Amino acid sequence: MRLNLITKLTLATGVILMVTMACFAWLRIGNLERLLLEEAVTSADNLSETIVRTTHYQMLDNDLPRVFQMITEAGSQKGIKRIRMISKEGKIAFSTKRNEIGTLVDKKAAACNMCHTGSAPLLHATSMSRSRIYRDESGATVLGMAKGIYNEPKCSAAACHFHPSSARILGVLDVVVSLDNMNAQLAEYRNKAIIQTIILLGLLTLSLTFFMMKLVTVPLRLLLTHTKKVAAGDLESSVAVQSGDELGELACSFNGMTDNLRQARRELEEWAHNLEAKVEERTRELKQMQAQLVRSEKLASQGELVAGIAHEINNPLTGILVYSSLISSDPKLDPELKPDIETIVRETQRCASIVKGLLDFSRETPPQKKPLALEQVMEEALNLVIHQSLFHDIVIARRYAADLPLVMADHNQMEQVLINLLLNAGQAMTGAGELTITTGVFPGGEALFASIRDSGCGIPEEHLGKIFDPFFTTKDQKGTGLGLSVSYGIIANHGGKIGVESQVGAGTTFTVILPLAGVETEPVES
Ligand SMILES: Nc1ncnc2c1ncn2[C@@H]1O[C@H](COP(=O)(O)OP(=O)(O)OP(=O)(O)O)[C@@H](O)[C@H]1O
Ligand SMILES: [Mg+2]
Repeated sequence: MRLNLITKLTLATGVILMVTMACFAWLRIGNLERLLLEEAVTSADNLSETIVRTTHYQMLDNDLPRVFQMITEAGSQKGIKRIRMISKEGKIAFSTKRNEIGTLVDKKAAACNMCHTGSAPLLHATSMSRSRIYRDESGATVLGMAKGIYNEPKCSAAACHFHPSSARILGVLDVVVSLDNMNAQLAEYRNKAIIQTIILLGLLTLSLTFFMMKLVTVPLRLLLTHTKKVAAGDLESSVAVQSGDELGELACSFNGMTDNLRQARRELEEWAHNLEAKVEERTRELKQMQAQLVRSEKLASQGELVAGIAHEINNPLTGILVYSSLISSDPKLDPELKPDIETIVRETQRCASIVKGLLDFSRETPPQKKPLALEQVMEEALNLVIHQSLFHDIVIARRYAADLPLVMADHNQMEQVLINLLLNAGQAMTGAGELTITTGVFPGGEALFASIRDSGCGIPEEHLGKIFDPFFTTKDQKGTGLGLSVSYGIIANHGGKIGVESQVGAGTTFTVILPLAGVETEPVES
């Protein structure tokens, strides 16, 4: 059986109190018994003395009937069991119990042995040692008091000469009183003491329980509930501090401990959250790198094919362009044929520019690298496009990093890339929107970047892997689909990268990354 703390404490205190109070009551009852007994002995002695004194003259006159009458009257008082006169020889001269008159008493009996202890009887003794308590023939507890009747000169000189002058003691007056009254008083006192002790014990136990519950059990229960909550993971709870004692201090310490635990858990959660975000970011970066790699491989194979075709077409095209130009400027040419020849020249020029674009894409045109400031090239590219009606309602935000280092690049090619990206952004916003241009250096200082963010239509997920392919366009007749593929080839030729991030309906960000001037970087294989 599991006893709780308060029951154990109450039981222990109750037992200690009960034992203490029982001992105390036992001592009090013992004291009272002794006092009552002394009082009974004194009364019995006083009665003996009174009888001896009041019968003194009748004794001297040897008026025994009168003596016996007085003794009988004294013995008729309430509580007196028996009074008898015993001669020196042990013969009962008179007794209020008539039937024992004239009989001899046993000196060894309880009534006589306090004086007749040795060979010679005691002549004088204290009232306590002259008394004895015993059970009489009816079984009742009685107190016997023996009083010596001493010989006096008057006795031996009396007319009757009844006693010789040598005798010291003439007889004994034996008074026997009932102790029933004293025992009844004692029993009543004992019962009262027991009842009082029980009531007091009950009251003490109740008040002790009450105070223990208020001072110990309630704060302990609160602490216990709190610790259970904490163990179950509820770190927001706290325990009310109810006192400034040790339990109050304990509650304060618990609250402090819970606060520390809560703080530690929050830090752990934050740490886990950050870790999750970092993992997500790294995963995204890895995906981008993988996509870039796939794109590079794809574009590399396309580049080889395109380069071959472009070379083959370039030579006949040059011939067509030269001869058609010559024919067009020939004065002998029939004026009616002149527009046709001019169409041939124009279309051939268009074909030549496409072929040039393809050669740029396949990196057949080596860049003429010179140190240049990227913002300056950006501004030149912007100047070329913003006057077009396409850009009239577009807000342009420039966020150029201060003191951007120079980059080794081909001015014309770089301008071409930026124009391609700006035009794409403008076309994606269909005339209105926000264009944000940002430049900066990557932490570590190995490369710089220029990003062009538009608030246009965005690129669907399925197109992201194709936009750098030559001839991939969503612009029907208006686009050749060479802008991004050419830009890609140029940037790769500079040892850099082009990245893209896009969300349909929100916008697109193209980022050009270029290695910094003075930093030797191998061109990216594509
Ligand atoms: N900023 C952009 N916003 C939305 N889509 C874009 C963006 N840039 C490029 N694209 C998509 O990528 C495709 C390929 O672009 P690319 O510049 O290579 O060709 P084009 O713009 O269609 O034609 P060209 O550049 O030859 O005039 C575009 O048709 C368009 O669908
Ligand atoms: Mg384009």
